Amino acid sequence: MKKSNRLAIDGGVPVVKDSLPSGVSGPSVVDEEEVEAVARLLRSQKLFRYRPDSECNLLELEAAELLGVKYALAVNSGTAALVCAMKGVGLGPGDEAIVPGYTYIATVAAVVAAGAVPVIAEIDDSLGLDPSDVERKITKYTKAIVPVHMRGVPNRLDSILTLARRHRLKVVEDCSQCVGGAYKARRVGTYGDVGTWSLNYYKTISTGEGGLLYTNDRDVFERACFASDPGLPMWGGEDSRGIEFHQDPFPGETYRPSELVGAVGRVQLRKLDGVLAHQRRLKKAFLAELDEPRAYRLQHVDDPAGDTGVSAGVIVQDEELARGYAHALKAEGVPVGTIYNAGIPDRHIYSAWDSILNKRSHHPSGYPWKDPAYRGDVQYSKDMCPQTLDLLGRTLLLNFNMNMAEEHARAMARALNKVDAALGT
Ligand SMILES: Cc1ncc(COP(=O)(O)O)c(C=O)c1O
Repeated sequence: MKKSNRLAIDGGVPVVKDSLPSGVSGPSVVDEEEVEAVARLLRSQKLFRYRPDSECNLLELEAAELLGVKYALAVNSGTAALVCAMKGVGLGPGDEAIVPGYTYIATVAAVVAAGAVPVIAEIDDSLGLDPSDVERKITKYTKAIVPVHMRGVPNRLDSILTLARRHRLKVVEDCSQCVGGAYKARRVGTYGDVGTWSLNYYKTISTGEGGLLYTNDRDVFERACFASDPGLPMWGGEDSRGIEFHQDPFPGETYRPSELVGAVGRVQLRKLDGVLAHQRRLKKAFLAELDEPRAYRLQHVDDPAGDTGVSAGVIVQDEELARGYAHALKAEGVPVGTIYNAGIPDRHIYSAWDSILNKRSHHPSGYPWKDPAYRGDVQYSKDMCPQTLDLLGRTLLLNFNMNMAEEHARAMARALNKVDAALGT
């Protein structure tokens, strides 16, 4: 074997000699602009969002324009956006909502917070909802499907929307990990009844903590507004957004964002397309450098143009080989997440969601699973979605970030080529 082909685990020279730059998306582009926006806000001492031209109002208007939707609502987390979205589409006691077995647990917790029962469905090689399993899991209690665009990659939305239309189901798109991503030339989250963003530290753009909900449906928007602030109906004329509510208010929780979210969010929003462009360049460079694979295939991406470019899912033939690839890639200088990282239960895989699998609620009544309004009989177990466990057990996630240049992405591809050539059969 040529010296350069010898794997680093066998004493060869690693492909990546200096460590790859680390970083996340939104926070890596924070600069003086955010600092000035926050300083300006603090100097104004106007820190409450309900006032004319508040930073949050402007963030909502600017986000709605960028997304091409009628309404946007800023809230204080992605989870809050999801809870308001669930309540916005009218999900509640007696209902089921179908969620993927691969998402952050907050997606599922939001269904429970609305009083509905989550039904966990398989993912497929898109690492998003498997439409055929969704169809199998639809019951007469199903009210909503919740596609989650994980790691920047849009789901098989066409199939999911067709199913939803056929069965008259609501669609709540969790775009927390795909902020700004698109599907067939429209931003994700604008196809369903409502879309949500998380703006937490790890996201495409970030306000530290924060979230946004968006929709074209006036009723959904109004209900989400009520869900986000129990005092809202009483602010009356002080609702500086000039919204005249048509629906009767109901009491929600306080998910009002700080004006800091608005101030930082507006600057980050202006940087969104720049972040996406850089990440997409990285992923393109990575893909272009890959040799013909021997023992893996790439995650299916239903619309590559809409992918935010933050990751590449590499699905290896079997789990043992995947572990071997991960080990060898790390030695080549490419940190790679395997789904079952030793010792850390992954909050994104349903089998680690003990509170859900054990149907735990805040109250001994066993709500929402034992709510008298619920007539279904959902059952959970750690191995209930074998396809999801199998796929995730074989998937390596390679991540790109804003501190990388295209050459870093190409080096990652060369490392994968080298490992695949040596270990793949
Ligand atoms: C897919 C998904 N949904 C929901 C959330 C919740 O967002 P937040 O942490 O802002 O509440 C996250 C955050 O990590 C997420 O990744």
